[in-house]
This record gives sequence, structure tokens and C-alpha cells, in this order.
Amino acid sequence: MNSSTRRARIISTGSYIPERVLSNDDLSRMVETDDEWIRERTGIGERRINTSMKNHEMAVIAAKRALEASGLSPLDIDLVIASTVTNDNYTPALACHVQAGVGAKNAFAFDINAGCSGFVYALDTASAFISASRPGTRQVNNVLIVCSEVLSRITDYTDRTSCVLFGDGAGAAVVCADSEHGLLSSYIKTDGTGADSITAPALTSVIANDDGTIENNPDKITEGLKMNGRKVFTFAVKAIPEALSEALKAADVTADELKYVIMHQANIRIINSAVERLGIDPEKAPVNIERYGNTSSASVPILLDELNRAGKLQRGDKLAIEGFGSGLTYGAAIIEW
Ligand code: ACO
Repeated sequence: MNSSTRRARIISTGSYIPERVLSNDDLSRMVETDDEWIRERTGIGERRINTSMKNHEMAVIAAKRALEASGLSPLDIDLVIASTVTNDNYTPALACHVQAGVGAKNAFAFDINAGCSGFVYALDTASAFISASRPGTRQVNNVLIVCSEVLSRITDYTDRTSCVLFGDGAGAAVVCADSEHGLLSSYIKTDGTGADSITAPALTSVIANDDGTIENNPDKITEGLKMNGRKVFTFAVKAIPEALSEALKAADVTADELKYVIMHQANIRIINSAVERLGIDPEKAPVNIERYGNTSSASVPILLDELNRAGKLQRGDKLAIEGFGSGLTYGAAIIEW
């Protein structure tokens, strides 16, 4: 295969969903809200909460499921890319735990933090490594992508405007070099001027004392996720059609040719608005937000895994995937399955 025909093809998927359910009724006992408001404004009925595991433990389960389905040995994996905004640690990277946890001894591993666009960014990055492989550089044929989020750990459960949205989960995919099928195009962008629209600050900062010592700032230790929901909503309903239209154009594929448009599950109204703007049949935009809420970068690979395991994806199907989120980041990709 020469580099121009080395496509990045998703050959298998996996996911992990925590068992513990947090329903809208549960939330209505925590903040002033109710099931009707949450369903009408977001499409969410319940979400899952990880109360017992580290993020990397969830990530490893999802990654092992994708690897098992791929038929590859962990030793075949050249690169592990993990996407998360809720890593257990500032360092080491989540991907390093995954590399060890699945036994991908021949792989190098790193994280990306691109908010809810993480899967689209990771797939684009995997494709770049695969197509850039040439003698003298690290050869990358097989990539393990895992997107794993424990948003419950940064969610402020006294803030009704954001706590109703988020849930935990992990999704994974094995991506291989292929001469025929795979990623046809991608369009990824960032608008850093909107960075303050969604923030989860560092857990603590320091106060400098006059005597030259420093101490932890106790006021900062418990600060969680803050989001300007309206600003993100306005951004999303413009960014998604832009990303999808540009990716379709670059792939020379029409919206009618797509079997599915797999969109980040943030809010049913955002999904419906994008579908309408693009003139896509709503049946082509599967949703699982009712069950899981917004799981950030895990949402697209979890939905992809559901479709894949239900036997709904056939070789040669054309799919679009899309993501947007903190950063502000956004992007879309067109895939030939
Ligand atoms: N229950 C009841 N009432 C509520 C709730 C709630 N949970 N939350 C807000 N309200 C109230 C507000 O206080 C407001 O009351 P007021 O009119 O008296 O002031 C009213 O409902 C309407 O509030 P809006 O903010 O206008 O509600 P909106 O319809 O915009 O929905 C929402 C809010 C769901 C947050 C929406 O803006 C949204 O989905 N934004 C996008 C968020 C997103 O997609 N984030 C993804 C990125 S996250 C990441 O990257 C990790």
C-alpha cells in the first residue's frame, strides 16, 4: 500500500456502560428540576454513573471488547490513543494505563483532550499516523482508540443547568490501515475564543504567602464543571452543519448517500436542529441520549458500538460521525465502513 491508499478503517468496536442508573426522578430529589423539563429540553431520561472504578478501568474494559472483536492480538497494536476530559490523573496519560491493561506491549500511547469531539479528533489523528508511515518513521498499521469519561467526577450536582446532562461511559475502536475502505474525509476545527463556555478548572491552585511559602487554595479545591449552556447550544447548531457539510464535500459524498449520521449525544434538540438544517432523514440519525445522557467523547463510539453489535453496519456503508464540545472544538468525518 502506498501512503495515498492507506486509509484508516474501523474494524471493530467496544464499549463499557456503568451499571448504576441516575434517573431524572433521582435528580429531582437533588436539585429543583423534574422529569418533564429534562426530557423536553434535552431528550435525556437517565444516565449511568460510575461509582466504583477508576476511569482507566472502564477504558480497559471497552478497549478489550474492541480488541476481542477485531481478532488482532494486543501485540499487533502500534498506537493507543485515549480521549478524555476526566482522566484519573494529570499524569500519566489514560492511554498508558490502557496500553498496559490490554497488553499492547509494542504500542506507543498518548491522550488527547478535545472535549466531546474527542473521537473525531482521535480518528483523524490515527489516520494521519497510518498514512504518514514510511521507512525511517514509526510504522503505524493498527491503532486502538478509546474514549472514556467519568463526568460525574467533575459535575456540580448543585447546578441544575448542567448536572442533568452528563453521564459516564467508555467507547473504543480498533482502526487499521486498509487499501479500500475507511476514512474518506475529515474536517476538524477549534474556536478557542469560546474556551470559557465549558470549563472544569484544575482541582486546586496555590496561594503565595509573604514568607515565600505557598499553600493550596482551599476555595479552588472543589470547583467543578461550569457551562454556559445557551452559548454552547448556539455554537453547536451552527458548528455541526458546517462540519458535516465540509466533510461531505471533501469526500464527494451527498447526505442522501449516508446510511447513518452518528452525532454527539448532547441534546436531542441540537441533534434535531442539525438534521433539519442538513435536510437529513431523522431516521438516519440514531440516538441513545435517552439512556445515557451526554458522555462527552465516549458518546459517538458508544453509539457506533451499539449499531455495530446490532448488525446494522455493512461493509461499504457510508457513515458520518460528528462531535462538538469544550474548547470549543468541533468536527466531522465521512467513513466507508
Ligand atoms: N430543571 C428545570 N429548570 C431548569 C433547569 C433544570 N434542570 N435548568 C435550567 N432551568 C431553567 C432556567 O433556570 C431557565 O429559567 P428562567 O427562564 O426562569 O431563567 C429556564 O429553565 C430556561 O433555561 P435555558 O438555559 O434557556 O434552557 P435551555 O432550553 O437553553 O436548555 C440546556 C438548557 C439544556 C443546558 C441547553 O442550553 C443545552 O443543552 N446546551 C448545550 C449544552 C451542551 O451540549 N454541552 C455539551 C458540551 S459539554 C462537554 O464538552 C463536556
